[in-house]
Amino acid sequence: MSYLEATNDLYKQAALTPDVGLCCTTNPVWQLPGLSIPVVMQEMNYGCGSTVSASDLVNEPKVLYVGVGGGMELLQFAYFSRQVGGVTGVDVVDEMLEACKKNFRIAEKENSWFKSEFVNLLKGDALNLPIESESVDVAAQNCLFNIFKTEDLKKAVAEMYRVLKPRGRLVMSDPVCEQPMNDALRNDDRLRAQCLSGSIPIKEYVKVLTDAGFGTIEIRARKSYRVLSPNHYPTEELIHIESIEIAAIKDPMPDDGPCVFTGKTAIYFGGEPYFDDTKGHVLLQNQPLAVCDKTAAALAELSDEIHISESTWHYDGGGCC
Ligand SMILES: C[S@@+](CC[C@H](N)C(=O)[O-])C[C@H]1O[C@@H](n2cnc3c(N)ncnc32)[C@H](O)[C@@H]1O
Repeated sequence: MSYLEATNDLYKQAALTPDVGLCCTTNPVWQLPGLSIPVVMQEMNYGCGSTVSASDLVNEPKVLYVGVGGGMELLQFAYFSRQVGGVTGVDVVDEMLEACKKNFRIAEKENSWFKSEFVNLLKGDALNLPIESESVDVAAQNCLFNIFKTEDLKKAVAEMYRVLKPRGRLVMSDPVCEQPMNDALRNDDRLRAQCLSGSIPIKEYVKVLTDAGFGTIEIRARKSYRVLSPNHYPTEELIHIESIEIAAIKDPMPDDGPCVFTGKTAIYFGGEPYFDDTKGHVLLQNQPLAVCDKTAAALAELSDEIHISESTWHYDGGGCC
């Protein structure tokens, strides 16, 4: 059985019987006016963060969500979109699509604004999406792509890039890991499918996105996720896994490379009213400007009267590019 078949098998079981400990997130259950998330959707929350952000969802975007799980994030996207077919969910596992559909009927009873037709559920594979090119404004996936091995991950990202309109955005949450993992962990299909042993360092994850052509990257959150300890897993050292929330925007690639925002800020403290790098970045005296890592490095080279803060890993808009 290939690791992809093992993954399908695991999520077939997780569709038939909700597995509360699988994946799991520290994000609170959403409390928004008129929104009720059915308990079964919470039990089937197999994500590791959130991909739904109101600021991505202006102007009635067409949303695509790959790897539907129990449907919780589809319901959250539909909360903002509220139009028939405004959100499309794709999953390769029949049982998961069926469970999601069933959960929508429960959601209809708890949410007077919600209709199942707001979400179009489709059988399909992240590696070969049944979606027209350049037809989507916001594409999302939560805790699926970390499962994929390198070549499949590249394929899945290329598929998302293909279906997005120019300037469209890919929003994701995935586990990441800065420590090396041994082959016993990497080659354990079940641990991989459980989102425990496929994760890669943030820098590599970002590179897959920028290599696919995304010109702007935003790291929106970074949180502790799990540990793999020697007493429970085949490892001699404790491995710490984190999860990130990240957006990749289909902006044209700048000539000098992608803009990757990790939450750095530049503040000019020299004697002039402002500092102008003549490349579009004007720093007013003692005013913060959110900058991408590339600009942060360039500004630090240009002047020793600019304070560059560390990455907060919590970029939420604004800034330089
Ligand atoms: C870890 S779960 C995440 C579910 C959901 N995104 C959430 O946050 O609760 C992975 C999901 O991806 C689906 N899946 C697995 N392999 C897939 C593939 N190759 N293409 C599309 N969906 C896939 C599974 O059936 C499952 O619904």
